[in-house]
Amino acid sequence: MRTFSLLAQKGGAGKTTLAVHLAVLAESLGERVALIDTDPQRSAADWWRARKLPQPAMAECAPENLAKAIEGAKRRGITLCIVDTPPHAGQFAYLVAEAVDFNLIPCRPAPFDLRAIGKTVDIIAQLNAPAGIVINAAPANRGDVEVPTTIEARKTLARYNLPVSPVAIIDRPVYQHPMDDGRTYIEHFPTGKPATDIAALWTWVQQQMGVAPQARQAISVAPKAQRVPQAAAAGAKRPPAGVAAPQAGQRSRPVGVEQRQPGPPQRQQQPAPQRSRPAEQSAPPVAAAAARGGR
Ligand SMILES: Nc1ncnc2c1ncn2[C@@H]1O[C@H](COP(=O)(O)OP(=O)(O)OP(=O)(O)O)[C@@H](O)[C@H]1O
Ligand SMILES: [Mg+2]
Repeated sequence: MRTFSLLAQKGGAGKTTLAVHLAVLAESLGERVALIDTDPQRSAADWWRARKLPQPAMAECAPENLAKAIEGAKRRGITLCIVDTPPHAGQFAYLVAEAVDFNLIPCRPAPFDLRAIGKTVDIIAQLNAPAGIVINAAPANRGDVEVPTTIEARKTLARYNLPVSPVAIIDRPVYQHPMDDGRTYIEHFPTGKPATDIAALWTWVQQQMGVAPQARQAISVAPKAQRVPQAAAAGAKRPPAGVAAPQAGQRSRPVGVEQRQPGPPQRQQQPAPQRSRPAEQSAPPVAAAAARGGR
């Protein structure tokens, strides 16, 4: 099982937005994903409750219980844990950064954000934890070419001595709103640029974790029959810390994983990731994928 966090001390960097989109994207490619919400704001968990689909699975816990939650997910056959974290996490950020295989740091290409990212990078540096940066909510490209704001942001971020994703996630309203059926825009339009950018980012994250990315497949989600009726969701109780079910009814089992049959791994994986800083440069195929996806 692999684990990565969305980590940024700055509020509003895009941690939750990227966590949920990477979760649905990875799930569509065959991973059994658990999204673990360690933020007391519970934005990811709220998104999941409104979604009313069992996948990806969801767990809520305090950061100090993260290791236990990850263990629980592993026992239940989850192949990928994506950990959403709170802003200004202080000591908890250290716990999270140490508990996962990789830390993805979103950063908006704006002066305050580019300065504030230093606090997160300091935590990573102190732990020598594996991490990389993704520019989020960048202005739209001109064709396939990044605009000066994004190019300048890359130059600033280069000072932090961490790998920076070759794909920047563009500021797009479609990332903000779920569709009427609870699915994300990228699930409805898997070949559109919003989806191909998230796919390119996922490819890069996998490479940072030492995983050979699988060729992209069409996004598919659980059939509508698996949705939870409103009434069942309304009666839900919050579970105790750890990997546990936030919903009653169909989603009352731990993170939904027991609803699936265990099967052979669908992804050819390389050896376990090293607890060392990932390679500075991404491999060429990522850049190619990003270029193909356009922005
Ligand atoms: N690429 C994007 N395009 C458009 N809107 C975005 C994008 N990324 C984030 N947003 C929006 O910016 C706001 C903040 O994003 P988000 O909640 O994901 O940040 P966060 O880092 O999780 O914040 P917090 O630190 O408060 O948890 C949200 O309204 C979200 O919809
Ligand atoms: Mg958040």
